[in-house]
Amino acid sequence: MQFERWLPVNELPAVAFMAPTDSLLAGAGPLDFILPPTCSISALRRGFQPIPFHSPIAGRVPPSSVEEALTGRPAKRARREEKEITIRMLKRADVDAVSDLQDSNLPLSYPWSFYATLLTSSSSLCLIAVPSSSTSSATPPPVLGCISARLSPASLDDLSTTPTIHILSLVIAPSARRTGLARSLFKEVVRTLGGGAAAGKSQKEVQVILHVLASNTGAQAFYKKEGLEEVRRVRGHYRRLRDGENGEAVEMRGLVKL
Ligand SMILES: CC(C)(COP(=O)(O)OP(=O)(O)OC[C@H]1O[C@@H](n2cnc3c(N)ncnc32)[C@H](O)[C@@H]1OP(=O)(O)O)[C@@H](O)C(=O)NCCC(=O)NCCS
Repeated sequence: MQFERWLPVNELPAVAFMAPTDSLLAGAGPLDFILPPTCSISALRRGFQPIPFHSPIAGRVPPSSVEEALTGRPAKRARREEKEITIRMLKRADVDAVSDLQDSNLPLSYPWSFYATLLTSSSSLCLIAVPSSSTSSATPPPVLGCISARLSPASLDDLSTTPTIHILSLVIAPSARRTGLARSLFKEVVRTLGGGAAAGKSQKEVQVILHVLASNTGAQAFYKKEGLEEVRRVRGHYRRLRDGENGEAVEMRGLVKL
């Protein structure tokens, strides 16, 4: 299996795995000081409507790309609807496909608890991109891209009051890259989680934080385009790489407009 020797992901802190579903939003949870009492990320998650994604770069996505991603073989013929992609929330039935996508494009495996947290935690969100033609099908669709993120109080080290979104993972299937799909997923996750944190406030931006493998210059270029900058390097940040790399991470941060 070929995967890129990059690590763009942030390992989900153990506390996130252990947190009861809604505990972060209730009582004296750590999100209280950024979330107004009327705001619930759960409601935003429930109300998330699928969004059509149209590649802004006409002609750069081969019409056969979705079928190729699904079967691993060149498509016999192009179908018009294969160019259309829908961005929607992760469902339980998508977990195997998302896990396959992440495992084959990232140098570490995520445990089931990672996906369980994304499905249940009120402060986390996972959006996926699937062929629009598959949305009415009963079988789980091929997943062309996914992003996961967690909203948390402002970083403990800078004591800022700006809500902070941690990008946990972002992967686009090789056949769907450089079409703006990652940009769309990134903007949507920031808009949804950030919008929840900003509800009832005059908040116009959120802080976005992530770690990316130091050798993953492509992903760093992507995040720089989105307004993030390298703030420091963390040796040994990634400890469970399949190939034994030292796992040095670049920490990137930036303020992103809502
Ligand atoms: C990094 C990754 C998510 C980018 O996804 P993508 O859908 O191809 O990105 P987009 O098409 O939205 O790119 C938007 C812009 O980011 C920049 N960019 C994206 N990938 C880049 C790369 N490999 N090298 C340089 N710049 C890049 C470009 O400026 C691009 O605009 P352009 O295509 O008009 O030049 C994708 O390559 C990927 O999944 N890689 C493997 C997993 C990974 O590294 N994930 C990192 C996320 S933490």
